[in-house]
Amino acid sequence: MTRTNRRLSTALALAAMLGAPLAAMADPVAYPEGYRHWHHAKSMVIHDGHPLADPFAGIHHIYVNDPALEGLQTGRYADGSVFVFDLLQAEHGDEVLTEGERKLVGVMVKGAETYQETGGWGFEGFAGDSRDQRLVSDGGQACFACHQSQADSDYVFTRWRP
Ligand code: HEC
Repeated sequence: MTRTNRRLSTALALAAMLGAPLAAMADPVAYPEGYRHWHHAKSMVIHDGHPLADPFAGIHHIYVNDPALEGLQTGRYADGSVFVFDLLQAEHGDEVLTEGERKLVGVMVKGAETYQETGGWGFEGFAGDSRDQRLVSDGGQACFACHQSQADSDYVFTRWRP
């Protein structure tokens, strides 16, 4: 067996033992193709030094698809509701702040059954402009831990603004 093969089979054996993470991998959150044409819900700038700065420092825009827009207004999110957290570098110029490179795309997709472990939401992050370089390796537990403070609004921080 080559070294790579041995590593691979060890990894597979470990994954089999850990059942749960493997199950979580069975329903990966899809890249939110076309989200820049969705509804813009809000924007925010997070400066260095803020508790969320690592990794969320920069300018972010939050986009929602049609079901999530309805959810923002009714407080009830149908399966398939998607929120996108589009995070860009903040470029400081002469008395201006402008958008720089994309840092990551954070996604929350509603799937009440599929994502029971994390409040009925699937969490994922995609690095930079990548559609397949995934950032979440714990099934979304760390993301959910912080979103749990918003239990009264189905774990969503964003509020409806007409
Ligand atoms: C330490 C707290 C914290 C962690 C950890 C965290 N978030 Fe959030 N998230 C927030 C806050 C605060 C907002 C609201 C930002 C705003 O108001 O613009 C937010 C907003 C979002 C939104 C927009 C929907 C909403 O709830 O308003 C998405 C999508 C999102 N986060 C995805 C993620 C993903 C994916 C992860 C894990 C990789 C993650 N978050 C981890 C605090 C957190």
